[in-house]
Amino acid sequence: MRKIIIAAALIALSSCARQAAPASGLDGHEKEIDAIISGMTIEEKVAMLHGNTMFSSAGVPRLGIADIKYADGPFGIREELEPHSWKPLNLDTDYATFFPTGSALAATWSPEIARLYGKGMAVEARLRGKDMILGPAINIQRIPTGGRTYEYLSEDPILSGELAKGYTFGVQENGAAVCLKHYALNNQEDFRSTVDVQVSERAMREIYLTPFEMAVREADAWGVMSAYNKVNGYWCSENEHLLTDILRRDWGFKGIVISDWGGTHSTAAVQAGLNVEMPGATSLGQPLLDSLKAGVVPESAVDQRVRELLRVRLALPAVPEDEANKYITSKPEQQKIAYDVASRSIVLLKNGGALPLDPSAIRSIAVIGDNAVSTNALGGFGAGVKALYEITPLQGLQSRIGAEVDIKYAQGYKRYSGADRSRRTPLEAAADPALLKEAVALAAKSDIVLFFAGDNREVETESADRRSITLPNGQDELLEAIAAVNPRIVTVVVAGAPVDLGTVDKLSDAVVVSWFNGSEGGNALADILLGRIAPSGKLPFTFPRKLSDSPAYALGVYPQQLPTVSDNEDLPIATTRARRAAGIDAPYSEGILVGYRWFDTKGVDVAYPFGHGLSYTGFEYSDVSATLSRGELKVSFNIANTGDMAAEEVAQVYVSRPASKVERPAKELKGFARVCVDAGAKKQVTVTIPVDRFRHWDEAEGGWKVEKGPARLLVGSSSRDIRLTADIDI
Ligand code: BGC
Repeated sequence: MRKIIIAAALIALSSCARQAAPASGLDGHEKEIDAIISGMTIEEKVAMLHGNTMFSSAGVPRLGIADIKYADGPFGIREELEPHSWKPLNLDTDYATFFPTGSALAATWSPEIARLYGKGMAVEARLRGKDMILGPAINIQRIPTGGRTYEYLSEDPILSGELAKGYTFGVQENGAAVCLKHYALNNQEDFRSTVDVQVSERAMREIYLTPFEMAVREADAWGVMSAYNKVNGYWCSENEHLLTDILRRDWGFKGIVISDWGGTHSTAAVQAGLNVEMPGATSLGQPLLDSLKAGVVPESAVDQRVRELLRVRLALPAVPEDEANKYITSKPEQQKIAYDVASRSIVLLKNGGALPLDPSAIRSIAVIGDNAVSTNALGGFGAGVKALYEITPLQGLQSRIGAEVDIKYAQGYKRYSGADRSRRTPLEAAADPALLKEAVALAAKSDIVLFFAGDNREVETESADRRSITLPNGQDELLEAIAAVNPRIVTVVVAGAPVDLGTVDKLSDAVVVSWFNGSEGGNALADILLGRIAPSGKLPFTFPRKLSDSPAYALGVYPQQLPTVSDNEDLPIATTRARRAAGIDAPYSEGILVGYRWFDTKGVDVAYPFGHGLSYTGFEYSDVSATLSRGELKVSFNIANTGDMAAEEVAQVYVSRPASKVERPAKELKGFARVCVDAGAKKQVTVTIPVDRFRHWDEAEGGWKVEKGPARLLVGSSSRDIRLTADIDI
C-alpha cells in the first residue's frame, strides 16, 4: 500500500443557494415569453396548469403554442391511450423497444451506456410525437422489497446520479426532455399516496436528493415529477421546501414540475412550485381559476409557472401532428442499444467453473423455470411497454446453440400472476407437485441444469411492496429436488430487486443475475452464458442475507402497521379509512446509513455486496496514486487482465473517514470507471472526483461542508473487495 498525502485548503462550500445557477438550454426566451404572457387571459394560463388529456398539458391554441406531450417511461415508450382513459388505442404503430429496466441499467455502472439508453428512448419518443419522457426514475432503493426497485437505479446516490445524468444527456441531446421522478422520497409503494416521510435534512440531501441534484445541476434536466407521498408533513406536490427552496433556488432549476398522476391536492401547489397537475384538473382547474379571481392565489404566481412551461415549450419544438406515429419506432439502432445495455448489465455472482458453457462438451441442457419463457415488458401495475418483441432466455439459447445441443424446457413452478398479487398469495407458496416431478425427470436425464429463478413483473410492481424476498412459488423446494438428481446447476436469477439466495447459492455451481432485461435480454444472456462476452455487470444494490438485516427492517420502521377492522374490532371502518387518508409516518431512522452504508458500518454479513460482479477473467489492481488540483481529485491505478479473454471491469473508488468529527458510513462510493482490458494487457485507469463530492450536509449550519482532514481512498472491484488504498489529506 502506498501512502499519499495531499494537502489542500479547507473547502467549505456555503449553501448551494449562493452558487451561480448553471446555464440551461431553457435560457434565452425570456423576452418572447414576457410578450406571450402579457397577451394571455387568465383562463388560458390556468388551462396550461393541468392535464389536457391523460398524457398532455395544454399550450395556447390561439397563439399557436402546442400542447406538451408526455411519454410514459422510463424503460420504453408506452403505448397510445384514449385521451381520457387508460384504455389502449390498439394502434399498429406504437410497438416500441423494451429497454432493460432501471436496476439493469444501473448494473452497467456506465454513464456512457445510460446516455445511449437515453438516446434510444428519445428517438422513439420523438417519432411518436412526444416531448417529455416520464423518466428516468431515480429514487434510492431504500428497502429491498420496494415495489419499484426494478425501475429505480441504485441504493447509492452517486451511482444513481451519474446514470441519471447520462440518461438525461442522451434524451435531451436527441430532441426530447426528461422528467426525473419521483421527487422525492417515494421509497415505498405501500401507502405511497398517504405516507409522510420523516427524514433529516442531512439524509434527505446526501442520500435521497443527490441523484436529482446531479441531473438538474450537472445535466440540465428540464422536467421533474413530484411524488405521491408527503415529506416532513407536506405533500410533495405542494412542498415549498422541495420545489422552491431546493429545486429552483439551490439548484437553479428552470424547467417544469408535473405532479404524479392524481398526486395534486390543492391550489397551494402553484405557489409551492408545481407547474402542472396531472392528469386531471381537480385542483389546478376551476378551483385555481376561482382562487385567482378571489385574489387568494396571486396572478404573479401563475405567471411564473406559465413562464417555466413556455421555456420548455419554446426550447423544444413540437412534432407536427401529421408526422407522429407514422410507423413502428423500434428499429435496429435502438434494439442494438437494448442489447448493449443488457449484455453489460448481467452480473456473475459466483462461478465454480460451470460457466462459460462449452456447447461442444454438453449434449443436453435442462432449462427449468417459468422465468425462462416469461416476458417482462408488461405486467403488474403501472407503465409498461408494448414491446415489438422480447427475446426470452430460452429463445436466446435456442437461437445461439439450439442446432448443436439438445435443449429441453420444463416449467418447474407456476407463474406468479396478478390475481395472486391481488389476493396477496404469499410468495412462499409450496411447489406444484406435477411441475416439480416433470422438472426433476428432465434434470435427471440432462447433462446440466439451467435453473431460471427469480421474480416477475407481477411480483415486483408499482403500488405494492413485496411482503418478503423469498423466491416465489416454491422455487427453493423445486431446486432442492432438482439438486438431488443433478448437481450440475447454473442458476439465472430473473429479478429487478434483491431476492433471498440462500438455497440457490448452496445448490448452484454458478449464479447469474439477468434482470428484467428488455427486448434483447435473452440474446444478451445467451452470449454471456456461452462466454461470447465476459460478464461485467456489478450489483447496484446489496443482496442481504435476511430481509431483517436491512436497515429499515432492522430498526422496525418498515413495514408500517395500519389498524384494520379485523386487527382491531372496535375501530369503525370510517375511522380506519380516515386513518389511512390522514396518512402514516415513515420515520427514516437509519438516517444516512442506507444500503451498504448500513451493512458495512454495522458489520452485518451480506449475501452479495454492493458493487459485486465477477468475470470470466481475473483483474489485478496495482500502483495507485492520487493528485488533487483545481478542485478535482484524480485517482490513478493500473488494472491488468490476467485471463485469456478481453473483458470489461468496473473499478470503484470509495472513501472512508474514520477520524471525521461527523457521523460517517464505513465507506461511501465517490467515483468509478468501466474499462475494457485486452487479454494479458494492463491499462492505466484514472477516476476523476470533484472535491465537493466529499461534502456533507451540516445540520447546524444548514449548508454543505467539505471537512478538512485525513481520508482513505479505497479502490476495489466491489464494496467488499478493496484492492488498493491511498491516504490523502483533504
Ligand atoms: C406513476 C408514474 C407514472 C404515472 C403515469 C403513476 O402511477 O407513479 O411513474 O409516470 O403513473 O402512468
